[in-house]
Amino acid sequence: MQRFARFVALLVLLALGAGQAVAGVEGDTIQAEVNKAPNGLALTPPMGWNSWNKFACDVNEGTVRATADAMAASGMKAAGYQYVVIDDCWHGPRDANGFITADAQKFPSGIKALSDYVHSRGLKFGIYSDAGRLTCGGRPGSQGHEYQDALTYARWGVDYLKYDWCNTGDRNAREAYAVMASALRQSGRPIVFSMCEWGTAKPWLWAKNTGNLWRTTGDIFDSFSTKDPKRDWAHTVTDIVDLNEPLWSYAGPGHWNDPDMLEVGNGGMTPTEYRSHFSLWAMMAAPLIAGNDIAHMDENTRSILLNSEVIAIDQDRLGAQGHRVATEGTSEVWTKPLANGGIAVLLFNRSQQPATITATAQQIGLNGKGQMHARDLWAHRQVDMRAGALTATVEPHGVAMFRLDS
Ligand code: GLA
Repeated sequence: MQRFARFVALLVLLALGAGQAVAGVEGDTIQAEVNKAPNGLALTPPMGWNSWNKFACDVNEGTVRATADAMAASGMKAAGYQYVVIDDCWHGPRDANGFITADAQKFPSGIKALSDYVHSRGLKFGIYSDAGRLTCGGRPGSQGHEYQDALTYARWGVDYLKYDWCNTGDRNAREAYAVMASALRQSGRPIVFSMCEWGTAKPWLWAKNTGNLWRTTGDIFDSFSTKDPKRDWAHTVTDIVDLNEPLWSYAGPGHWNDPDMLEVGNGGMTPTEYRSHFSLWAMMAAPLIAGNDIAHMDENTRSILLNSEVIAIDQDRLGAQGHRVATEGTSEVWTKPLANGGIAVLLFNRSQQPATITATAQQIGLNGKGQMHARDLWAHRQVDMRAGALTATVEPHGVAMFRLDS
């Protein structure tokens, strides 16, 4: 009861202050929230599935249930995929008291029943909202309803909130995300907070104690490097890599750079390009949120999303984001330090021709580490490291990925 009274008081406060710049007592409260320790969640990059990349606004409870079933049965759950997240367009109107409801056509059983279903499959449940008056898809946003929405999500058993940035007017991003972070904390339920403001206000500089992950770019587009002529804000895989890679020092356990959800299996890239996309995301310690129809995926897609040796690089508990250590024309060498003193090494060929790429001992940072053993994480076999260097002929748009251990 006491908690509810507190919620109501905060609701009034926020209804008065929503959309205003941070100032005065409220500003101090928000600042105190920003400075608080993070929620202790997402100590490795979150893994799961999100409806948007494949289904956009065509999502409904049948799709979500089938996805949860497939995740549990296909080996994805066992491989670490955990969160089943409904993106935009699940919302109906707010009720007379301002509480959000579900779209009754698409989710006739309601969100609580769906959340229970996902949990019954041993998985976690996520949902989507927006810091503005409306979501990007034109559904009700959370502005002015943050505490009420957080309470609703907690009652529904939500474990993950993706919080978007459309229709926010002149709202201050740091303030807006701090309000929802505070609301989630006070809901009493552990909820991973996924910030989706596309990197506009550089959240890597201020959001470490606010969100568990923050998008660093505009939306991904299912293409290796060919731009979408109709959507200049959408980014190809190589665009995103170039925007997200320089931010490597800001990522760590509980707070990750998010280069957007995976497109693996959605049809716009070749299997080689999808392997590169997945490998680069793992090197960047990115959240691995599948964005395909996992209830109907083919063997190729499955073999990429379920490559446990690549997943282990992403999920390494040191939580370091890997980065590029050498570039020669269109050939790149990347490294990522691992918790056991090992190193992940990626050779990346951006060109349309095969390329022989070498990572030298110095580039890898082997000096003083003694003899190490290398394993090819796509061929699943040990490889020879001549004089401490790694060399491979890499197919066009492809990668070779290794794990080095002493
Ligand atoms: C924005 C986000 C996407 C998706 C859509 C939904 O574009 O960046 O990831 O959530 O909104 O409308």
